[in-house]
Amino acid sequence: MEKKKRSSFSSRIGFVLAAAGSAVGLGNIWRFPYLAAKYGGGIFLLVYLILAVTFGFALMITEIAIGRKTGLSCIGAYKSLDKRFGALGWLAALVPVIITPYYCVIGGWVMKYFFEYISGNGLALAGDSYFGNFIGFADGGLLSTPLFWFLVYVLVTAVVVLLGVEKGIEKVSKVMMPVLVLLSIVVAVFSMTMPGAVEGLKFYFIPDFSHFSIKTVLAAMGQMFYSMSLAMGIMITYGSYMPKESNLERSVGQIEIFDTAIAFIAGLMIVPAVVAFNGGSAEGINAGPGLMFGTLPKVFEKMWAGHIVGTVFFLLVLFAALTSSISLMETVVSIVGDKLHMGRKPATVAVTVGVCLLGIPSCLGYGPLAGVELLGMQFLDFFDFISNSVLMPIVAFFTCILIGWFVGTKTVSDEVERNFPFHRKRLFEVMVRWIAPILIVCILAGQILDVTGVMKI
Ligand code: PHE
Repeated sequence: MEKKKRSSFSSRIGFVLAAAGSAVGLGNIWRFPYLAAKYGGGIFLLVYLILAVTFGFALMITEIAIGRKTGLSCIGAYKSLDKRFGALGWLAALVPVIITPYYCVIGGWVMKYFFEYISGNGLALAGDSYFGNFIGFADGGLLSTPLFWFLVYVLVTAVVVLLGVEKGIEKVSKVMMPVLVLLSIVVAVFSMTMPGAVEGLKFYFIPDFSHFSIKTVLAAMGQMFYSMSLAMGIMITYGSYMPKESNLERSVGQIEIFDTAIAFIAGLMIVPAVVAFNGGSAEGINAGPGLMFGTLPKVFEKMWAGHIVGTVFFLLVLFAALTSSISLMETVVSIVGDKLHMGRKPATVAVTVGVCLLGIPSCLGYGPLAGVELLGMQFLDFFDFISNSVLMPIVAFFTCILIGWFVGTKTVSDEVERNFPFHRKRLFEVMVRWIAPILIVCILAGQILDVTGVMKI
């Protein structure tokens, strides 16, 4: 039944752009640069790139093929492949439920910054304590609180979700994505040529193996899942919309290149600039979720027509974030709708209310709730950790086991080879059967030893 309702993208390029629209978002622009700065620059970049072209490729092709083959979203898809893996669909579905609320909190921050730029207050954003005061609720006034912007952001996302797949997602991303790439390149070139940025470039490009640890791999792996929208059922859903006659491997290659290129350019915009502002040294950079918000306004302030650049930039990031949060919310809505037998409208309303409620702790976590910590983390960081470093690796592990050892890699490769040759078939098979599961087990085991204090890594 579900199959009949499913709309399909009008063209292959429509599919690629929409999937890229889901993949490219805050993960690339906000999350990747701060992780790169936090986990040793070049070494993180290197590990990330290797993972993206091996593991990321294999998992993305697996998920899209499962979706296209079964024509179902993740809950039904895993179960239809093997009854015993039904629970995996639920686990995967849980990930967007955790991510959507805090994603919307950050989307709200972006909206606030865009609003300040367009109202001519861009200069104030470049102040050292601006971001901290903002997320700390230090400025009074309704328009100054993250809570207000969070709620507005959720509402905008919800309205677009109500408009449906084709209209909502495809149109917006077709126009905005290429412009975002161009503007990011301009800003990156400017950042790289600032005084003191050379040290930053070295830090970003030259791997320093003394910074390598299991944590680097865990962070890079979690980031890869997050950025490419993997291990959470989303690409399965997208695959179910993909036309049967299109070239699956080539589409995956394009999404992957696009996603990685944007993250890489975002790193170039932000990392050298932070080092430059840090007096030309990569030591002691304070890299966390606030990095983009603290750094970019300072860069724009130094640029010619910086307030215009800032306005356009935050507008584009806002669209990139929206295409992602739309795809996140869309997934949750279709699950709630299907399972609770609700129509699209009531399901969207219910999910919107849920997202608002669940997002509030993350939103207040740096302000009124700053005293509350979970495993030593603020709410937002905690949800980010649970989804990226715990749940997604588990989902990815069992997906690999299901495909590699239960239903067989042929299920995926036959689907890929429907009309076209599968060039990286060997790589896919070895990754899914051996390397990816072993890597995940080692990393999770290392992580558990570390958290429980048995062995410091
Ligand atoms: N991949 C998106 C990003 O990089 C985030 C996202 C995660 C979107 C999960 C959809 C699903 O921002």
